[in-house]
Parts: sequence; C-alpha cells; structure tokens
Amino acid sequence: MAERIVESIQYGGITFPSIVHSEESVCYAHRNFEVRDSDVFNVTYPKSGTTWMQEILTLIYSNGDPTFSQSTPCWERMPWVEHKTTVQYLENRPSPRLITSHLPATIFPEKFFSSQAKVIYTVRDPRDVCVSLYHYTKMTSFLEYREDFGEFIELFSAGKILFGTWFDHVKSWLAYKNEKKFLLLVYDELLKDLRGSVLHICEFLGKNLDPAVVDSVVENASFGVMKNNKMVNYTLVSEHLLDQKISTFLRKGISGDWKNHFTKEQSAAFYQLYQENMNGLETKFPWDEF
Ligand code: A3P
Repeated sequence: MAERIVESIQYGGITFPSIVHSEESVCYAHRNFEVRDSDVFNVTYPKSGTTWMQEILTLIYSNGDPTFSQSTPCWERMPWVEHKTTVQYLENRPSPRLITSHLPATIFPEKFFSSQAKVIYTVRDPRDVCVSLYHYTKMTSFLEYREDFGEFIELFSAGKILFGTWFDHVKSWLAYKNEKKFLLLVYDELLKDLRGSVLHICEFLGKNLDPAVVDSVVENASFGVMKNNKMVNYTLVSEHLLDQKISTFLRKGISGDWKNHFTKEQSAAFYQLYQENMNGLETKFPWDEF
C-alpha cells in the first residue's frame, strides 16, 4: 500500500480531494462553466452508481456500439465538471456533451438552472454507499480512512469524508425533482430492472432506440462486462493511487451489502440519523423503512 496522503480543498463548505480538484476548478464549475441546452449531466453522491451511469449514457449515445466505451476511459468520455481538467476535456467538445458531477445543487454550475440542459440524479441506499466508500477509501492513498467500520460510519454520518453529507447532497437535488429537466433514479431499481431503467432514461432524453440497441446497452452496461472493461474498471489508474489488490473499484455491485457490515446497534443509530434528516420528505425510497 502506498503512503496515504490526504490533501483536500474547501469550497462552499464542502471538502474535495485535491488530487483532482482545486478551489479554482470547483469555483469555475459553479460560477463560470458555460452550460449548453443539449448538455446531459450524470450527477451523484460518490459511490451511488456514477460509473454505471457513465457507461449507460455512453452506450445510449453510441447507439449501443461498445467501441467507444471499450476504447476510451470513462473519465474522458464523461468528464467531471468540477475537476481540474474541465477546460481541457469539456470546453471545445461538440454537443451533445455528456458530463459527470458529484456537486450538490447548491454549488452546481449556476448556468444550468436557466438552461434546458438535463440532470440524471442517481441515489443509492446510504448504508450501501457507506460500505462502498469504506472499501474504496481503503484502496485509495488519498482519502480519509478508518479501519474500524464504526468509526468510518461516524465520519460518513458527519460528512467528514468528501462531498459533504449524503443527506444534504440528496436533499439539495430532491428540491428539483418535479422539473422536466430532472430525472431521479434509484441504484437499487437499476439493479432490479436495467432494461426498464434504460428505456426510462431514453424516454427522458428523447431517444427512441431499436430493441436490439437497447439490448446491447443493457449487455454492455452489465456488472460482468464492465468489470472486464479496463476503460471503466479503473485498472488504468496507478496502483499507488488505487490499489486493486486491496479491493476492486467494481467491487460487488449489489444492494444490501450493508447487512454484512453494520451491527444491529450501528444500524439502529443510523436509522435514527436517517429519520432526523429525511423525515417529512415527499419522496419515498425503497430503504425508508430500513
Ligand atoms: P460496490 O462498491 O458496492 O460494489 P461510483 O461509480 O459512484 O463510484 O459507484 C461505485 C459502485 O457502483 C460500486 O459499488 C460498483 O460496484 C457499483 N457499480 C458500478 N457498475 C455497476 C453495475 N454495472 N452494476 C451494479 N453495480 C455497479
């Protein structure tokens, strides 16, 4: 394992790992990024299915042909708007641009809100997000980690890791859920019915794909195919940054792995925190009852 060096920057009260962010890059995304009406944003809190949606959207826009997704790294295909490389990757890209972001709505590119651009926001059971993040931070050399899972839950609950708390992130975006340019997806529902979800995404994007094309999107965005695609399984990233001997980036790809990690007490405490933060919201999630 490479030496862990955790360096971060702050913007809008949120901590970002400085390996790919600078204050300037996040501020640029927030204040200056020129949003086009044809832009499609894939927005998530980390570990909620970001990479999966990158693959699905690339395949939809490639008409089901996997050549692009199997020859170009996902971070070049659908760059993060808040990263230091935004200008290099996004500014001169022809439309329609497919863009990724982990930003909460509070500091999202402000020009988005007066545009016709679209956001697809994928949300996942926060307990599974916590577990996925635990294993991910363990394999990285640049994120705050705690070997003890109970301590890690505390960091996660307090939003002391990255991108603030899951609760604030999700609530910031739920405020837009009735807008026509906003699509809310649930990771667990993608798992249950990927084909139905792809059709739903196509409808939102105004794309009418042949059934055979939809089949190809579904096949190539499956966990098994993605796990073997080095353009998306992050094995192209240096072992010093991401040590896939410790865990894998595409780890389990299931729903409910939290049951293998949370004790009864940890689960009860998290439930209480969840209630405090999410009670009274109109939107219901499959995990609301815990
Ligand atoms: P696990 O660590 O629980 O396996 P992100 O891309 O936002 O960082 O999220 C990563 C999580 O999404 C990982 O979860 C990863 O395995 C899961 N994932 C990625 N592609 C997937 C797919 N095709 N099917 C199911 N889960 C997928």
